Amino acid sequence: MPDNFLHPWTKKLEKSFVQQALEVTANPDIISFSLGRPDQNLLGLLNQNNIPSDILSPQNLQYSPPSYELKKYIVKLMKERGVDCKEEEIFLTSGAQQAMSLLTKVMTHENDTILVDQLTYPGFIQVNQSLNTKLVPIPCDIRSGIILDELEKLLNCNPQPRFIYMIPEGHNPLGISLGETQRIQLIKLAQKYQIPIVEDDAYGLLTYETTVPPLKSYWKEGVFYIGSFSKVLAPSFRVGWIVTPKTTIERFETLKEGTDINTSTFSQKLILSILNDTDFDAHVMTLRESYKKKRNIMVNSLKKYIPELEFEIPQSGFFLWGTLPSTVNTTELFNVALREEGISFLPGEAFLIGERADAKNSLRLSFAFCPIERIEEGVKRLAYALQKVNNAALQRMAV
Ligand SMILES: Cc1ncc(COP(=O)(O)O)c(C=O)c1O
Repeated sequence: MPDNFLHPWTKKLEKSFVQQALEVTANPDIISFSLGRPDQNLLGLLNQNNIPSDILSPQNLQYSPPSYELKKYIVKLMKERGVDCKEEEIFLTSGAQQAMSLLTKVMTHENDTILVDQLTYPGFIQVNQSLNTKLVPIPCDIRSGIILDELEKLLNCNPQPRFIYMIPEGHNPLGISLGETQRIQLIKLAQKYQIPIVEDDAYGLLTYETTVPPLKSYWKEGVFYIGSFSKVLAPSFRVGWIVTPKTTIERFETLKEGTDINTSTFSQKLILSILNDTDFDAHVMTLRESYKKKRNIMVNSLKKYIPELEFEIPQSGFFLWGTLPSTVNTTELFNVALREEGISFLPGEAFLIGERADAKNSLRLSFAFCPIERIEEGVKRLAYALQKVNNAALQRMAV
């Protein structure tokens, strides 16, 4: 097919590192610390439910309006998270990914500015690649997240940004959760400049220590909230939601119709039956306990085998962000680790917008997907790979 059948602008679309990692980690011999995939065994918990025999009934296989019952359940879930909302304010999406894509579309136009942590979720960067919006990175501290003074400087000197994109709980990739004071200060700042926030709460239910309410609970009118069943039920259901003022819903509906018509009826019905027939709160508790155990094993193994790695212990979500001495290039380490030790992770630069020196020697490790009994072995393999990279660097210096 002649290349010019596709519009030239598409040439600038780059495959993200995450997409590439998805391909390489399909090999079962590789221990994967690379992706934000839930634990297979925890997904397996769903098998214990009696899937209703009428799940394949014709009406479940149809195009259909969004399920009011499911919205009702989400309202209850949001209330438990500290957010008061009504069914009319819930917009169902095909996962959090579609939610951020639709939100960006309704909130921006070409060349508009969005403020975002300089290390952030690549899926959000991808959304903006095709929309031609401008992402302005907010400097962040890898221990505590967003630097509010830096945000204020940016708010002062940028043409009115359209919104701020935030992942306050279980940050991807930093593994950070913003404390209550930070959340309140962030909201105050956003209110002062009247800039809305898009809050991506994909990991909001997976907290391992204490739980702080989402940003939405502090500023109902100014925060667009994104939730998802991917990490707590299954990513393949592709069901997420936006909490947004009722008056905006019609515009989301029109945009979504042009994208995928409606969120899978089958998935909505399946999720509903799981929520109705099981103790979902107990399920979330099991997930929290299981992921916390995995996190602890990863933390202890890293301290034992890679003591030079600096990191904070994640309080929620799937990820741990680590920084190695500045002499190590984690992209080089990634290649050696994958090729020679069969272990994968993602190098820090895969998440970077703009410039930041320590992204080059940092990495993101996911403790969620790897079977619990292989985490220590995976860390050992990573330590071997690191040794090889360090030895190669010494040899280069000696020549
Ligand atoms: C921060 C963040 N937001 C959104 C998503 C996408 O979630 P979903 O499967 O609901 O589209 C992910 C997936 O890894 C994520 O890490």
